[in-house]
Amino acid sequence: MCGIIGKAGDGNVIPDLINGLKKLEYRGYDSAGLAVLNGNVYSSVKTAGKVEALAEKVTACRCSPGSTGVGHTRWATHGAPTDKNAHPHFSPDGKFAVVHNGIIENAAELKKTVLPQDEVYASDTDTEVAAHLLAYYYKGDVIGAVSKTVNALQGSFALGILCSDCPDTLFAAAYASPLFAAKGKTGAFIASDMGAVGEDAAEIYQLADREIARLTKDDVAFFSADGKPVVKNMVNVQVGQLSLEKGGYEHYMLYEIMQQPDAVRDTILPLIRDGHIIRHEGFPEGGFVRDRLNRIRIVACGSAYHAGLVGAALIERYCGVDCRAEVASEFRYAAPLIDKNTLAVFISQSGETADTLAALRLAKKKRAQTLAIVNTEGSAIATESDAAVFTRAGREIAVATTKAYSAQLAVLYALTLYLAREKGTMSTAQEGAYTQELLRLPEKIRLTTETVSETVTELAGLLAQKEDMFFIGRLLDSAAAMEGSLKMKEISYINSQAYAAGELKHGTISLVEEGTPVIALATQPEVFSKTVANLHEVKARGAYTVLITTEQLLGREYAADKVIAVPDTAGPFAVSLAVVPLQLLSYYTAKNRGCDIDKPKNLAKSVTVE
Ligand code: AGP
Repeated sequence: MCGIIGKAGDGNVIPDLINGLKKLEYRGYDSAGLAVLNGNVYSSVKTAGKVEALAEKVTACRCSPGSTGVGHTRWATHGAPTDKNAHPHFSPDGKFAVVHNGIIENAAELKKTVLPQDEVYASDTDTEVAAHLLAYYYKGDVIGAVSKTVNALQGSFALGILCSDCPDTLFAAAYASPLFAAKGKTGAFIASDMGAVGEDAAEIYQLADREIARLTKDDVAFFSADGKPVVKNMVNVQVGQLSLEKGGYEHYMLYEIMQQPDAVRDTILPLIRDGHIIRHEGFPEGGFVRDRLNRIRIVACGSAYHAGLVGAALIERYCGVDCRAEVASEFRYAAPLIDKNTLAVFISQSGETADTLAALRLAKKKRAQTLAIVNTEGSAIATESDAAVFTRAGREIAVATTKAYSAQLAVLYALTLYLAREKGTMSTAQEGAYTQELLRLPEKIRLTTETVSETVTELAGLLAQKEDMFFIGRLLDSAAAMEGSLKMKEISYINSQAYAAGELKHGTISLVEEGTPVIALATQPEVFSKTVANLHEVKARGAYTVLITTEQLLGREYAADKVIAVPDTAGPFAVSLAVVPLQLLSYYTAKNRGCDIDKPKNLAKSVTVE
């Protein structure tokens, strides 16, 4: 995913573009660039590396100012993250400059079948084809050229466009990729996320698919794909300036780990009244649950999928409904047996993940009832689902999710209790008791963060020397082990694998050598001794063993070199506590290894391409 921004103002817009790009870096940071128009003369700077590198280059090359401009921070899809592949890309005649978020899937075909065969391309990107098409279709009317280009492109795109024949004007177009346009106090803006513009954005609009925008410093106009003017309503987007401070912590990730108690509390309070889970507007109607619901599918990617695994296990156990978690990139191409009696739940922090969005669209086509659990209001997954329950984690900047993941678990706990009560598989009294424990979860997360920190920082020193490690667990702990492993590998770059504890001996145990770290989660009493037995098996082969368990399970014999205990809580909620030491372990291990914790290499905060 990439971040794009544009401004039509007066005075030099370069500082606005750079400040905005810094707040969009959560969307990708392989390379960055900008172009501004001063009259009909372009000034453009682009570079591999982060926005900071772009800012330095702008200063070093004394980039001329301009009152209209576009900027881009990139997560590479086509073409390596190099200077030449950084956006903006220009048309052969130099008239058009384009920045793009998304993937143009028919770029090669357009080069072969539409564009002149003698055209020379300056980059390896799909985006450059859009710049060439604009020039190819341009006969003096920019809206006409944009309309033809937008209709020729396939895939997903949010485009920011400049034309040197219209020096005070900024153009934009979008399809299946978020793009907002806004009138502001100092000019007009486009941005992938208006948080990059902040309070300066007064009237905000979201471009619909294949819609076109034309912005000057005092006006914003919209056009349909065939170039006809359209009137749009403003959207209510919580813009809230993307805060760049980290609460005094060194990294966003640690700041966000510490925010988890608040994130969970803010998420569950709207779902509870008088000690019981309410029928939140996002939850399915009681009648549907009792009379028709016969299957639930939870679909997501990455950490959101790991949260879904926990939710699916709980729903099957406590609600007696067939429930499975599915990886969205698989689900969207499979032949899922879902229908109007299915509840399909889509979990996403960004609400823009392409695979999850595509899976949602498939489920809707199959007439499933769809529910989104998302952290971003106004996002595609939130707006396209039949209903949505929002995690109230606040903006999450670190690429490695923590507080949003914990908030997702909290919603899944509430959903499980609601469904169980409505299905009649749990008494209201029992649901109330669990709800009371759920209300105690934020404080227990805070307590866990405090009590494990010393052990974790010490352990991280050892793990930082390793190149391989394993996370194991059973039932809910197996899902938590997957999340712990993902955290570790995505920010410390250590090759980490997660396994159902009972599965290790079916092959992978051959990889265990002297000193190989094996981190076992054992918070579920019913399988505690089984997981400890697996710990013995790897210890017998030289592994360095770590056990994460609860205080009530402490004291039993467990063959661990290091033991971390989290506070006692009801079984289903223990994994919310166990994930905290795993998050901190990955953070401090990565810190010891000198990794870029908030912006790990090759990653982006939300992947809006397949
Ligand atoms: C997790 O730390 C990663 N950032 C990644 O796995 C993420 O959870 C996944 O890409 C899904 O993103 P979403 O929640 O925004 O859909």
